[in-house]
Amino acid sequence: MAVPSADTVKVPDLQRLPGLRQYLASLTGRERARAQSRLSGLGEADLAGLGVSEPQLVERDYRVEEISGVIPPDLRGTLYRNGPGRWQDHTGRPLHHLFDGDGMLSAFTIADGAVHYKNRYVRTSHYTGKSGTRHLGTPAAGGWPANIGRFMPNLANTNVVEHAGHLYALWEGGPPHEIDPDTLETLGVRRFGGELRWMGSYSAHPSICPGTGEMFNFGVEFIPRPHLRIYRTNARGRLGHFRSVPLPYVAMVHDFAITERYLVFVVSPIIPDAVPVALGLKSLGDALQYQPRRGSVFILVPRAGGKVRQIESEAVMVFHLSNAYDDGEDTVVDAIRYEDGRLLKRIARFQSSSLDDAPSVFARYRITKTGRVLDEALCDEPCEFPRHHGGFEGRAHRYSYFNTRRHLGSFYDSITKLDLADRVATTYTTSGAGNSFCEPVFTPKADAVNEDDGWLLSVEYRADSHTSQLVILDAADLERGPVATAGLTHHVPQGFHGNFVPRAM
Ligand SMILES: [Fe+2]
Repeated sequence: MAVPSADTVKVPDLQRLPGLRQYLASLTGRERARAQSRLSGLGEADLAGLGVSEPQLVERDYRVEEISGVIPPDLRGTLYRNGPGRWQDHTGRPLHHLFDGDGMLSAFTIADGAVHYKNRYVRTSHYTGKSGTRHLGTPAAGGWPANIGRFMPNLANTNVVEHAGHLYALWEGGPPHEIDPDTLETLGVRRFGGELRWMGSYSAHPSICPGTGEMFNFGVEFIPRPHLRIYRTNARGRLGHFRSVPLPYVAMVHDFAITERYLVFVVSPIIPDAVPVALGLKSLGDALQYQPRRGSVFILVPRAGGKVRQIESEAVMVFHLSNAYDDGEDTVVDAIRYEDGRLLKRIARFQSSSLDDAPSVFARYRITKTGRVLDEALCDEPCEFPRHHGGFEGRAHRYSYFNTRRHLGSFYDSITKLDLADRVATTYTTSGAGNSFCEPVFTPKADAVNEDDGWLLSVEYRADSHTSQLVILDAADLERGPVATAGLTHHVPQGFHGNFVPRAM
Protein backbone atom coordinates (compact mmCIF):
# COMPACT_ATOMS: atom_id res chain seq x y z
CA MET A 1 0.00 0.00 0.00
CA ALA A 2 1.34 3.43 -0.94
CA VAL A 3 1.64 5.63 2.14
CA PRO A 4 1.14 9.36 1.56
CA SER A 5 3.27 11.66 3.62
CA ALA A 6 1.59 12.81 6.80
CA ASP A 7 1.46 16.44 5.76
CA THR A 8 -0.34 15.91 2.44
CA VAL A 9 -3.45 14.05 3.62
CA LYS A 10 -6.75 15.40 4.90
CA VAL A 11 -7.39 14.64 8.56
CA PRO A 12 -10.42 15.28 10.78
CA ASP A 13 -10.69 18.18 13.19
CA LEU A 14 -8.55 16.72 15.93
CA GLN A 15 -9.27 19.58 18.33
CA ARG A 16 -12.70 18.12 18.99
CA LEU A 17 -11.42 14.53 19.00
CA PRO A 18 -8.85 14.34 21.79
CA GLY A 19 -9.02 10.55 21.97
CA LEU A 20 -8.21 10.20 18.28
CA ARG A 21 -5.44 12.80 18.67
CA GLN A 22 -3.83 10.82 21.48
CA TYR A 23 -4.19 7.58 19.53
CA LEU A 24 -2.48 9.02 16.45
CA ALA A 25 0.29 10.51 18.58
CA SER A 26 0.95 7.09 20.12
CA LEU A 27 1.64 5.43 16.77
CA THR A 28 4.99 5.01 15.11
CA GLY A 29 5.59 7.21 12.08
CA ARG A 30 4.65 4.60 9.49
CA GLU A 31 1.58 3.41 11.40
CA ARG A 32 0.50 7.02 11.88
CA ALA A 33 0.83 7.76 8.19
CA ARG A 34 -1.27 4.71 7.36
CA ALA A 35 -3.94 5.77 9.86
CA GLN A 36 -4.02 9.31 8.46
CA SER A 37 -4.27 7.91 4.96
CA ARG A 38 -7.30 5.83 5.97
CA LEU A 39 -8.90 8.83 7.66
CA SER A 40 -8.35 10.96 4.58
CA GLY A 41 -10.43 8.47 2.61
CA LEU A 42 -13.54 9.03 4.76
CA GLY A 43 -16.43 11.12 3.51
CA GLU A 44 -17.72 14.22 5.27
CA ALA A 45 -20.46 12.37 7.18
CA ASP A 46 -18.05 9.74 8.44
CA LEU A 47 -15.59 12.41 9.55
CA ALA A 48 -18.42 14.17 11.39
CA GLY A 49 -19.41 10.90 13.05
CA LEU A 50 -15.98 9.94 14.40
CA GLY A 51 -16.87 11.35 17.81
CA VAL A 52 -18.81 8.16 18.65
CA SER A 53 -15.44 6.46 19.11
CA GLU A 54 -14.19 9.04 21.60
CA PRO A 55 -13.81 7.69 25.14
CA GLN A 56 -16.33 8.64 27.84
CA LEU A 57 -14.38 9.00 31.06
CA VAL A 58 -17.06 10.56 33.30
CA GLU A 59 -19.51 8.48 35.33
CA ARG A 60 -22.92 10.13 35.75
CA ASP A 61 -26.28 9.58 37.45
CA TYR A 62 -29.11 11.97 36.56
CA ARG A 63 -32.70 12.44 35.45
CA VAL A 64 -32.83 13.13 31.71
CA GLU A 65 -34.50 16.49 31.06
CA GLU A 66 -34.45 16.65 27.24
CA ILE A 67 -37.48 14.53 26.32
CA SER A 68 -39.17 14.82 22.95
CA GLY A 69 -42.38 13.02 22.00
CA VAL A 70 -44.17 10.91 24.58
CA ILE A 71 -42.46 8.07 26.42
CA PRO A 72 -44.94 5.16 26.16
CA PRO A 73 -46.72 4.84 29.52
CA ASP A 74 -46.55 1.02 29.36
CA LEU A 75 -42.76 1.06 28.93
CA ARG A 76 -41.32 0.45 32.36
CA GLY A 77 -37.92 -1.02 33.07
CA THR A 78 -34.23 -0.54 32.35
CA LEU A 79 -32.28 -0.74 29.12
CA TYR A 80 -28.80 -1.92 30.11
CA ARG A 81 -26.03 -1.52 27.58
CA ASN A 82 -22.37 -2.47 27.57
CA GLY A 83 -19.39 -1.61 25.41
CA PRO A 84 -15.87 -0.27 25.53
CA GLY A 85 -15.91 3.20 27.12
CA ARG A 86 -12.23 4.06 27.07
CA TRP A 87 -9.42 2.66 24.97
CA GLN A 88 -6.47 3.12 27.30
CA ASP A 89 -4.77 1.10 29.97
CA HIS A 90 -4.15 2.33 33.51
CA THR A 91 -0.95 4.04 32.37
CA GLY A 92 -2.99 6.15 29.93
CA ARG A 93 -1.50 4.43 26.87
CA PRO A 94 -3.99 4.41 23.95
CA LEU A 95 -5.18 0.98 22.75
CA HIS A 96 -5.71 0.05 19.10
CA HIS A 97 -8.37 -2.61 18.84
CA LEU A 98 -12.13 -2.06 19.10
CA PHE A 99 -12.30 -4.95 21.60
CA ASP A 100 -9.52 -3.55 23.84
CA GLY A 101 -11.60 -0.98 25.77
CA ASP A 102 -12.80 -1.22 29.38
CA GLY A 103 -16.45 -2.22 29.75
CA MET A 104 -18.70 0.75 30.52
CA LEU A 105 -22.29 0.01 31.48
CA SER A 106 -25.18 2.36 30.76
CA ALA A 107 -28.61 2.08 32.39
CA PHE A 108 -31.60 3.94 30.93
CA THR A 109 -34.36 3.48 33.50
CA ILE A 110 -37.80 4.28 32.12
CA ALA A 111 -40.89 4.76 34.30
CA ASP A 112 -43.96 7.00 34.29
CA GLY A 113 -42.89 8.71 31.08
CA ALA A 114 -39.50 9.75 32.46
CA VAL A 115 -35.95 8.52 31.90
CA HIS A 116 -33.04 8.27 34.33
CA TYR A 117 -29.48 7.70 33.04
CA LYS A 118 -26.54 6.18 34.83
CA ASN A 119 -23.19 4.90 33.59
CA ARG A 120 -20.42 3.11 35.42
CA TYR A 121 -17.30 1.20 34.48
CA VAL A 122 -17.06 -2.43 35.49
CA ARG A 123 -14.40 -2.55 38.22
CA THR A 124 -12.32 -5.25 36.55
CA SER A 125 -8.71 -5.91 37.52
CA HIS A 126 -7.78 -4.10 34.33
CA TYR A 127 -9.82 -1.00 35.11
CA THR A 128 -8.34 -0.79 38.61
CA GLY A 129 -4.79 -1.17 37.28
CA LYS A 130 -4.10 -4.58 38.76
CA SER A 131 -3.61 -6.48 35.51
CA GLY A 132 -0.94 -6.19 32.86
CA THR A 133 -0.95 -4.05 29.76
CA ARG A 134 -1.13 -6.75 27.10
CA HIS A 135 -4.42 -6.68 25.22
CA LEU A 136 -6.18 -8.53 22.43
CA GLY A 137 -5.09 -6.02 19.82
CA THR A 138 -2.42 -3.92 21.55
CA PRO A 139 0.85 -5.43 22.74
CA ALA A 140 2.32 -4.36 26.06
CA ALA A 141 5.06 -1.76 25.82
CA GLY A 142 8.53 -3.34 26.02
CA GLY A 143 8.62 -5.65 23.00
CA TRP A 144 8.37 -9.43 23.05
CA PRO A 145 9.81 -9.96 26.57
CA ALA A 146 6.88 -7.97 27.97
CA ASN A 147 4.36 -9.95 25.94
CA ILE A 148 5.50 -13.54 25.95
CA GLY A 149 3.29 -15.84 28.02
CA ARG A 150 0.93 -13.07 29.14
CA PHE A 151 -2.84 -13.48 29.22
CA MET A 152 -5.28 -10.79 28.13
CA PRO A 153 -7.24 -9.04 30.87
CA ASN A 154 -10.98 -9.63 31.31
CA LEU A 155 -12.52 -6.33 30.18
CA ALA A 156 -16.19 -7.23 30.82
CA ASN A 157 -17.06 -5.09 27.81
CA THR A 158 -19.35 -7.06 25.51
CA ASN A 159 -22.84 -7.66 26.86
CA VAL A 160 -24.99 -7.24 29.97
CA VAL A 161 -27.56 -9.94 30.69
CA GLU A 162 -30.04 -10.57 33.48
CA HIS A 163 -30.92 -14.12 34.53
CA ALA A 164 -32.55 -15.52 37.68
CA GLY A 165 -32.46 -12.11 39.35
CA HIS A 166 -28.76 -11.50 38.73
CA LEU A 167 -27.18 -9.04 36.30
CA TYR A 168 -23.89 -9.95 34.61
CA ALA A 169 -21.36 -8.03 32.50
CA LEU A 170 -19.91 -10.52 30.03
CA TRP A 171 -16.64 -10.99 28.10
CA GLU A 172 -16.05 -14.19 26.19
CA GLY A 173 -12.52 -14.97 27.38
CA GLY A 174 -13.27 -15.06 31.11
CA PRO A 175 -15.93 -15.35 33.80
CA PRO A 176 -18.82 -12.88 34.26
CA HIS A 177 -18.73 -9.90 36.62
CA GLU A 178 -21.94 -9.60 38.64
CA ILE A 179 -23.40 -6.08 38.69
CA ASP A 180 -25.84 -4.42 41.10
CA PRO A 181 -28.84 -3.68 38.84
CA ASP A 182 -29.71 -0.44 40.65
CA THR A 183 -26.31 1.15 41.30
CA LEU A 184 -24.25 -0.57 38.56
CA GLU A 185 -21.61 -1.30 41.18
CA THR A 186 -19.44 -4.32 40.50
CA LEU A 187 -20.24 -7.07 42.98
CA GLY A 188 -17.44 -9.40 41.87
CA VAL A 189 -16.29 -12.12 39.50
CA ARG A 190 -18.61 -15.13 39.44
CA ARG A 191 -17.35 -18.69 38.88
CA PHE A 192 -20.55 -20.42 40.05
CA GLY A 193 -19.03 -22.55 42.74
CA GLY A 194 -16.02 -23.38 40.60
CA GLU A 195 -18.00 -24.71 37.64
CA LEU A 196 -16.28 -22.10 35.45
CA ARG A 197 -12.83 -23.59 35.61
CA TRP A 198 -9.37 -22.53 34.41
CA MET A 199 -9.77 -19.30 32.42
CA GLY A 200 -13.52 -19.44 32.92
CA SER A 201 -14.33 -18.64 29.28
CA TYR A 202 -18.02 -17.79 29.11
CA SER A 203 -19.36 -16.24 25.91
CA ALA A 204 -21.08 -12.85 25.86
CA HIS A 205 -24.07 -14.32 24.01
CA PRO A 206 -25.99 -16.67 26.31
CA SER A 207 -29.36 -17.83 25.07
CA ILE A 208 -32.39 -18.05 27.36
CA CYS A 209 -35.11 -20.57 26.49
CA PRO A 210 -38.50 -18.88 26.91
CA GLY A 211 -40.14 -22.23 27.61
CA THR A 212 -37.93 -23.47 30.45
CA GLY A 213 -36.17 -20.31 31.65
CA GLU A 214 -32.84 -22.13 31.26
CA MET A 215 -29.85 -20.09 30.12
CA PHE A 216 -27.41 -21.90 27.84
CA ASN A 217 -23.92 -20.61 27.15
CA PHE A 218 -20.46 -21.84 26.21
CA GLY A 219 -16.77 -21.05 26.43
CA VAL A 220 -14.04 -21.88 23.93
CA GLU A 221 -11.16 -23.81 25.51
CA PHE A 222 -7.97 -24.96 23.82
CA ILE A 223 -6.43 -27.41 26.29
CA PRO A 224 -5.86 -30.28 25.77
CA ARG A 225 -7.61 -29.86 22.38
CA PRO A 226 -9.86 -27.09 21.05
CA HIS A 227 -13.42 -27.61 22.24
CA LEU A 228 -16.64 -25.89 23.22
CA ARG A 229 -17.46 -26.23 26.89
CA ILE A 230 -21.22 -25.80 27.16
CA TYR A 231 -23.08 -24.73 30.29
CA ARG A 232 -26.72 -24.82 31.30
CA THR A 233 -28.04 -22.60 34.08
CA ASN A 234 -31.46 -23.53 35.41
CA ALA A 235 -34.24 -21.00 36.00
CA ARG A 236 -33.13 -20.62 39.63
CA GLY A 237 -29.61 -19.59 38.56
CA ARG A 238 -27.70 -22.81 39.25
CA LEU A 239 -25.02 -23.31 36.58
CA GLY A 240 -23.78 -26.73 35.53
CA HIS A 241 -21.58 -28.23 32.84
CA PHE A 242 -23.85 -29.51 30.05
CA ARG A 243 -21.30 -31.17 27.76
CA SER A 244 -18.14 -30.54 25.79
CA VAL A 245 -17.85 -30.73 22.01
CA PRO A 246 -14.61 -30.84 19.99
CA LEU A 247 -13.80 -28.05 17.55
CA PRO A 248 -12.13 -28.83 14.21
CA TYR A 249 -9.42 -26.24 14.80
CA VAL A 250 -8.49 -23.40 17.14
CA ALA A 251 -11.14 -20.82 16.25
CA MET A 252 -12.84 -17.73 17.56
CA VAL A 253 -16.50 -18.62 18.20
CA HIS A 254 -18.46 -15.58 19.34
CA ASP A 255 -22.12 -16.58 19.35
CA PHE A 256 -24.55 -19.49 19.06
CA ALA A 257 -28.31 -20.07 18.91
CA ILE A 258 -30.85 -22.52 20.30
CA THR A 259 -33.84 -24.35 18.87
CA GLU A 260 -36.27 -26.47 20.86
CA ARG A 261 -34.13 -29.52 19.98
CA TYR A 262 -30.59 -28.24 19.50
CA LEU A 263 -27.86 -25.82 20.40
CA VAL A 264 -26.56 -24.51 17.06
CA PHE A 265 -22.96 -23.41 16.50
CA VAL A 266 -21.52 -22.08 13.24
CA VAL A 267 -17.74 -22.36 13.36
CA SER A 268 -15.94 -19.91 11.08
CA PRO A 269 -12.26 -20.41 10.26
CA ILE A 270 -11.17 -17.33 12.21
CA ILE A 271 -7.87 -18.82 13.27
CA PRO A 272 -4.91 -17.19 15.02
CA ASP A 273 -1.40 -17.46 13.64
CA ALA A 274 -0.29 -18.99 16.93
CA VAL A 275 3.51 -18.90 16.79
CA PRO A 276 4.07 -15.11 16.76
CA VAL A 277 1.44 -14.75 19.51
CA ALA A 278 3.14 -17.39 21.67
CA LEU A 279 6.51 -15.70 21.14
CA GLY A 280 5.13 -12.30 22.10
CA LEU A 281 5.83 -10.90 18.63
CA LYS A 282 2.24 -10.14 17.61
CA SER A 283 -1.03 -9.34 19.35
CA LEU A 284 -3.79 -11.94 19.04
CA GLY A 285 -5.94 -9.32 17.28
CA ASP A 286 -3.33 -8.83 14.58
CA ALA A 287 -2.74 -12.59 14.33
CA LEU A 288 -6.39 -13.56 13.71
CA GLN A 289 -6.83 -14.64 10.10
CA TYR A 290 -9.83 -15.77 8.12
CA GLN A 291 -8.70 -19.00 6.44
CA PRO A 292 -11.53 -20.08 4.10
CA ARG A 293 -9.63 -23.11 2.86
CA ARG A 294 -10.20 -24.68 6.30
CA GLY A 295 -13.97 -24.64 5.74
CA SER A 296 -16.74 -24.25 8.34
CA VAL A 297 -18.62 -26.67 10.54
CA PHE A 298 -22.24 -26.43 11.65
CA ILE A 299 -22.54 -28.15 15.02
CA LEU A 300 -25.92 -29.30 16.32
CA VAL A 301 -25.89 -30.36 19.99
CA PRO A 302 -29.11 -32.12 21.08
CA ARG A 303 -30.60 -30.48 24.16
CA ALA A 304 -32.02 -33.81 25.30
CA GLY A 305 -28.66 -35.58 24.95
CA GLY A 306 -27.51 -37.93 22.22
CA LYS A 307 -25.14 -37.76 19.30
CA VAL A 308 -23.76 -34.40 18.28
CA ARG A 309 -24.12 -33.64 14.57
CA GLN A 310 -21.15 -31.97 12.84
CA ILE A 311 -21.85 -30.87 9.28
CA GLU A 312 -18.94 -29.55 7.24
CA SER A 313 -19.57 -26.78 4.74
CA GLU A 314 -17.71 -24.27 2.67
CA ALA A 315 -16.34 -21.46 4.79
CA VAL A 316 -18.75 -18.86 6.18
CA MET A 317 -17.51 -15.78 8.03
CA VAL A 318 -19.86 -14.94 10.90
CA PHE A 319 -19.67 -13.36 14.32
CA HIS A 320 -23.36 -13.00 15.18
CA LEU A 321 -26.17 -15.45 14.76
CA SER A 322 -29.76 -14.26 14.86
CA ASN A 323 -32.43 -16.81 15.75
CA ALA A 324 -32.72 -20.53 14.94
CA TYR A 325 -35.59 -23.02 14.89
CA ASP A 326 -36.57 -26.56 14.01
CA ASP A 327 -38.47 -26.94 10.74
CA GLY A 328 -39.59 -30.55 10.56
CA GLU A 329 -36.37 -32.55 10.35
CA ASP A 330 -34.39 -29.49 9.24
CA THR A 331 -32.69 -26.88 11.39
CA VAL A 332 -32.78 -23.26 10.29
CA VAL A 333 -30.37 -20.61 11.57
CA ASP A 334 -30.04 -16.96 10.52
CA ALA A 335 -26.73 -15.09 10.73
CA ILE A 336 -24.88 -11.97 9.66
CA ARG A 337 -22.43 -13.24 7.05
CA TYR A 338 -19.37 -11.30 5.88
CA GLU A 339 -17.92 -11.59 2.42
CA ASP A 340 -14.43 -12.27 3.76
CA GLY A 341 -12.09 -11.51 6.66
CA ARG A 342 -11.48 -7.82 6.04
CA LEU A 343 -13.54 -6.88 9.09
CA LEU A 344 -10.81 -8.39 11.30
CA LYS A 345 -8.34 -5.82 10.05
CA ARG A 346 -10.81 -2.93 10.27
CA ILE A 347 -11.72 -3.51 13.92
CA ALA A 348 -8.03 -3.93 14.77
CA ARG A 349 -7.56 -0.24 13.81
CA PHE A 350 -11.08 0.97 14.39
CA GLN A 351 -10.25 4.60 15.20
CA SER A 352 -9.16 5.19 11.62
CA SER A 353 -10.99 2.53 9.61
CA SER A 354 -14.07 2.35 7.45
CA LEU A 355 -16.19 -0.79 7.39
CA ASP A 356 -17.70 -0.28 3.97
CA ASP A 357 -15.21 -2.52 2.20
CA ALA A 358 -16.18 -5.39 4.53
CA PRO A 359 -19.77 -6.00 3.37
CA SER A 360 -22.21 -8.28 5.18
CA VAL A 361 -25.64 -9.75 4.46
CA PHE A 362 -28.44 -11.21 6.56
CA ALA A 363 -28.29 -14.88 5.57
CA ARG A 364 -30.36 -17.99 6.29
CA TYR A 365 -28.88 -21.48 6.57
CA ARG A 366 -30.93 -24.65 6.43
CA ILE A 367 -29.27 -27.83 7.68
CA THR A 368 -31.17 -30.76 6.26
CA LYS A 369 -31.72 -34.17 7.80
CA THR A 370 -29.32 -35.61 5.24
CA GLY A 371 -26.54 -33.20 6.23
CA ARG A 372 -26.71 -30.62 3.48
CA VAL A 373 -26.29 -26.89 4.23
CA LEU A 374 -28.44 -24.68 2.03
CA ASP A 375 -28.05 -20.91 2.21
CA GLU A 376 -29.75 -17.81 0.91
CA ALA A 377 -29.31 -14.09 1.48
CA LEU A 378 -32.50 -12.56 2.92
CA CYS A 379 -31.27 -8.95 3.03
CA ASP A 380 -28.22 -7.69 1.21
CA GLU A 381 -27.83 -4.33 2.92
CA PRO A 382 -24.64 -4.11 5.04
CA CYS A 383 -25.87 -5.09 8.49
CA GLU A 384 -24.97 -6.08 12.05
CA PHE A 385 -26.35 -6.59 15.56
CA PRO A 386 -29.47 -8.71 14.85
CA ARG A 387 -32.19 -8.91 17.53
CA HIS A 388 -35.68 -10.37 17.78
CA HIS A 389 -38.57 -10.87 20.24
CA GLY A 390 -37.09 -12.84 23.14
CA GLY A 391 -40.28 -14.88 23.46
CA PHE A 392 -39.47 -16.45 20.09
CA GLU A 393 -35.94 -17.52 21.02
CA GLY A 394 -35.41 -20.92 19.42
CA ARG A 395 -38.76 -20.86 17.64
CA ALA A 396 -39.90 -19.82 14.19
CA HIS A 397 -40.23 -16.05 14.28
CA ARG A 398 -41.34 -13.51 11.74
CA TYR A 399 -39.35 -10.35 12.41
CA SER A 400 -35.68 -9.56 12.81
CA TYR A 401 -34.34 -6.13 13.70
CA PHE A 402 -30.77 -4.99 13.04
CA ASN A 403 -28.52 -2.09 12.13
CA THR A 404 -27.89 -1.14 8.50
CA ARG A 405 -26.24 1.79 6.82
CA ARG A 406 -27.28 3.99 3.94
CA HIS A 407 -24.90 6.96 4.07
CA LEU A 408 -22.10 6.15 6.50
CA GLY A 409 -19.17 3.87 5.79
CA SER A 410 -17.92 3.46 9.33
CA PHE A 411 -20.98 3.03 11.54
CA TYR A 412 -24.66 2.22 11.16
CA ASP A 413 -27.03 5.10 10.46
CA SER A 414 -30.18 2.98 10.11
CA ILE A 415 -32.38 0.44 11.85
CA THR A 416 -34.03 -2.19 9.66
CA LYS A 417 -36.93 -4.54 10.32
CA LEU A 418 -36.95 -7.64 8.16
CA ASP A 419 -40.22 -9.51 7.67
CA LEU A 420 -38.94 -13.05 7.21
CA ALA A 421 -42.31 -14.30 5.94
CA ASP A 422 -42.82 -11.73 3.21
CA ARG A 423 -39.09 -11.03 2.78
CA VAL A 424 -39.77 -7.31 3.03
CA ALA A 425 -37.38 -4.91 4.75
CA THR A 426 -38.42 -1.54 6.19
CA THR A 427 -35.86 0.95 7.42
CA TYR A 428 -35.59 4.08 9.51
CA THR A 429 -32.52 6.19 8.72
CA THR A 430 -31.38 9.06 10.90
CA SER A 431 -31.55 12.49 9.32
CA GLY A 432 -28.44 13.85 11.02
CA ALA A 433 -25.18 13.74 9.06
CA GLY A 434 -22.70 11.63 10.99
CA ASN A 435 -25.33 10.27 13.39
CA SER A 436 -25.25 6.55 14.12
CA PHE A 437 -27.23 3.91 16.02
CA CYS A 438 -26.27 1.03 18.24
CA GLU A 439 -28.03 -2.35 18.31
CA PRO A 440 -31.88 -2.11 18.44
CA VAL A 441 -33.34 -3.99 21.41
CA PHE A 442 -36.94 -5.22 21.17
CA THR A 443 -39.36 -5.36 24.09
CA PRO A 444 -43.05 -6.28 23.70
CA LYS A 445 -45.87 -3.91 24.59
CA ALA A 446 -47.98 -4.72 27.63
CA ASP A 447 -51.01 -5.57 25.47
CA ALA A 448 -49.12 -7.18 22.59
CA VAL A 449 -51.05 -9.43 20.23
CA ASN A 450 -48.80 -9.61 17.18
CA GLU A 451 -45.09 -10.45 17.26
CA ASP A 452 -44.10 -6.89 16.32
CA ASP A 453 -46.35 -5.19 18.90
CA GLY A 454 -43.43 -3.73 20.81
CA TRP A 455 -40.79 -1.07 21.20
CA LEU A 456 -37.34 -0.87 19.71
CA LEU A 457 -34.81 0.82 21.97
CA SER A 458 -31.52 2.12 20.60
CA VAL A 459 -29.02 4.85 21.35
CA GLU A 460 -28.28 7.40 18.65
CA TYR A 461 -25.05 9.37 18.50
CA ARG A 462 -25.74 12.99 17.50
CA ALA A 463 -22.69 14.24 15.66
CA ASP A 464 -23.51 17.95 15.61
CA SER A 465 -23.71 18.22 19.40
CA HIS A 466 -21.42 15.27 20.26
CA THR A 467 -24.17 13.88 22.48
CA SER A 468 -26.27 10.71 22.46
CA GLN A 469 -29.97 10.08 22.92
CA LEU A 470 -32.16 7.15 23.80
CA VAL A 471 -34.46 6.46 20.85
CA ILE A 472 -37.79 4.64 21.21
CA LEU A 473 -39.37 3.34 18.01
CA ASP A 474 -42.66 1.52 17.42
CA ALA A 475 -41.59 -1.83 15.95
CA ALA A 476 -44.90 -2.10 14.06
CA ASP A 477 -44.36 1.32 12.43
CA LEU A 478 -40.61 1.69 12.18
CA GLU A 479 -40.55 4.09 9.25
CA ARG A 480 -42.48 6.68 11.25
CA GLY A 481 -39.33 7.34 13.24
CA PRO A 482 -38.98 7.71 17.01
CA VAL A 483 -42.11 8.04 19.12
CA ALA A 484 -39.87 9.55 21.79
CA THR A 485 -36.25 10.44 22.46
CA ALA A 486 -34.37 11.22 25.66
CA GLY A 487 -31.35 13.43 25.04
CA LEU A 488 -28.25 13.00 27.19
CA THR A 489 -25.91 15.85 28.03
CA HIS A 490 -22.88 13.90 26.75
CA HIS A 491 -22.06 11.09 24.34
CA VAL A 492 -22.03 7.33 24.83
CA PRO A 493 -19.46 5.42 22.75
CA GLN A 494 -20.88 3.03 20.15
CA GLY A 495 -20.95 -0.05 22.37
CA PHE A 496 -21.83 -3.63 21.56
CA HIS A 497 -24.83 -5.27 23.23
CA GLY A 498 -27.55 -4.76 25.79
CA ASN A 499 -30.91 -5.94 27.05
CA PHE A 500 -34.12 -4.46 28.42
CA VAL A 501 -35.22 -5.69 31.84
CA PRO A 502 -38.91 -4.89 32.41
CA ARG A 503 -40.20 -3.91 35.82
CA ALA A 504 -43.67 -4.70 37.09
CA MET A 505 -46.25 -1.95 36.63
FE1 LIG B 1 -21.38 -9.87 19.98
